[in-house]
Amino acid sequence: MTTRRTFLKQASLTGTALAASRFFGGIVSAQSPVARIYVDPMQKIAPLDRKILGSFIEHLGRSVYGGIYEPGSKLSDANGFRKDVLEEIKKMGVPIIRYPGGNFVSGYNWLDGVGPKDKRPVVLDKAWNTIEPNQFGTNEFLQWCRMAGAEPLLGLNLGTGTPEMAAALVEYCNIEKGTKWSDLRRQHGIEKQHNVKSWCLGNEMDGSWQIGHMPAREYGLKARDCANQMRMVDPTLQFIACGSSGPGMQTYLEWDREMLEECYDLVHGISLHCYYRNDNQETGANGDTSKFLAFNLEMEQQIAEVAAVCDYVRARKHSRKRLWLSFDEWNVWYRQRGGDGKRQPAPHLLEEVYNLEDALLVGGFLNSLMRRADRVRVACLAQLVNVIAPITTNPDGLFRQTIYYPYSWALQCARGNVLDLAVDSPDYSVRGMDSRAPYIDASATLDGDSRTISLFILNRDLEKARDVEVVWRDVLPQRVLFSQVLTGQDLKAVNSFENPKKVSPQLFEPPKLGPRTLLQLPARSYTVIQFAS
Ligand code: AHR
Repeated sequence: MTTRRTFLKQASLTGTALAASRFFGGIVSAQSPVARIYVDPMQKIAPLDRKILGSFIEHLGRSVYGGIYEPGSKLSDANGFRKDVLEEIKKMGVPIIRYPGGNFVSGYNWLDGVGPKDKRPVVLDKAWNTIEPNQFGTNEFLQWCRMAGAEPLLGLNLGTGTPEMAAALVEYCNIEKGTKWSDLRRQHGIEKQHNVKSWCLGNEMDGSWQIGHMPAREYGLKARDCANQMRMVDPTLQFIACGSSGPGMQTYLEWDREMLEECYDLVHGISLHCYYRNDNQETGANGDTSKFLAFNLEMEQQIAEVAAVCDYVRARKHSRKRLWLSFDEWNVWYRQRGGDGKRQPAPHLLEEVYNLEDALLVGGFLNSLMRRADRVRVACLAQLVNVIAPITTNPDGLFRQTIYYPYSWALQCARGNVLDLAVDSPDYSVRGMDSRAPYIDASATLDGDSRTISLFILNRDLEKARDVEVVWRDVLPQRVLFSQVLTGQDLKAVNSFENPKKVSPQLFEPPKLGPRTLLQLPARSYTVIQFAS
């Protein structure tokens, strides 16, 4: 049994995950087999920035072409946008979407993707060895975002691209008229400026695979110049510098420190990426699902480590500014790793098929991101359509992959403030890790406006249902507004066009309300309950 130290009033720890911090410093033992979640509306971690529930669309495989854009399809509108996909994303309420890459962006010339479509060049995208027709570019994406109700998060080419062309793109997007680049946009038929606020200064520039990969200090100087030129065009922008592309990198944290030493004062956030695997690769769980389901605690560890480096640089620079984190690529991804598009347009690449255990872990990641809402302001489930995605299309329609459900529940129910829960849970040992993982992993938000509390709970126990007592402090819920669970016998079950509902949510019998609310959470489950007070 583990009991979080927060519960013992160690306020520096937040959430179950801290309970479980790599894993689980600051934990005391107790004996009851019933887990308890103590909910106190006064114990807030931070306001939830909905942008931590963002996603990502890259020019990669069938994410754009055949995903969100398919001119000539019976399912598309006059712009060529797939109406079914747009409707689905609008309904989900994805708040922010990163575009156009990913690895793609580091060789992308944004000028190829604007202007009359019949004049746009067909190019070879070297990142994915794919033919890029450039029929969908910046203006199409920004129009599509407006229709989807999402804010754009635009990536810049800091590989082959220059700070000058990055600043030109800002001028093209954000200046009303009367300058070279803003007038070019107007010539392209778009009178009103787009006002894009959030920008990624490159992608995974620490990675040897990245086009234009360079040493940390060189990148830091380039990012600095880029931010500087861009803010001269528009001083209201927010910049995200490229942090390490994963904790497995040899230069992990060193890269972050060195590049931040060069550009700290000009940027606002730093990016983190991580993909998790259940195979036998070095960072994989090797088929051990109990271990796999604890990987969201590793995500929290990464957040803590990168935040510590930011704060170190901050202290060394005597800066008043505190950077926030942008976990702008995260997901399960290990089966469809091949990235060779064989010089085809819109090839089937990275079309991972997600099973139940993947969905449970995605629920865990969402819990972790919420618990670190004090520091994480942006996060993107990578990606959104077809490519390592919750939505899969074919020419006739779409289906929802398993991971769609926890993600859409967070989009639907998580709002307001994230609460600092005290979670007291039985735990288990994880092979290859020095600490134990709690069976019950929880997060919660409290929305003062709608007077709702939403609880998100992962039960990592693969064998047994777990009793969880929710202990309410200074609040007494009156009604259950929403209660759903994702579970099943077969952790490897997947959805498909033939069987789109094989893994789908079930009603979680609304619990009896009182000062203590007893929940019986099925084995292998992720449950969301929204209470109204
Ligand atoms: O999301 C797929 C790829 O993973 C992205 O292009 C890249 O940034 C990361 O390595």
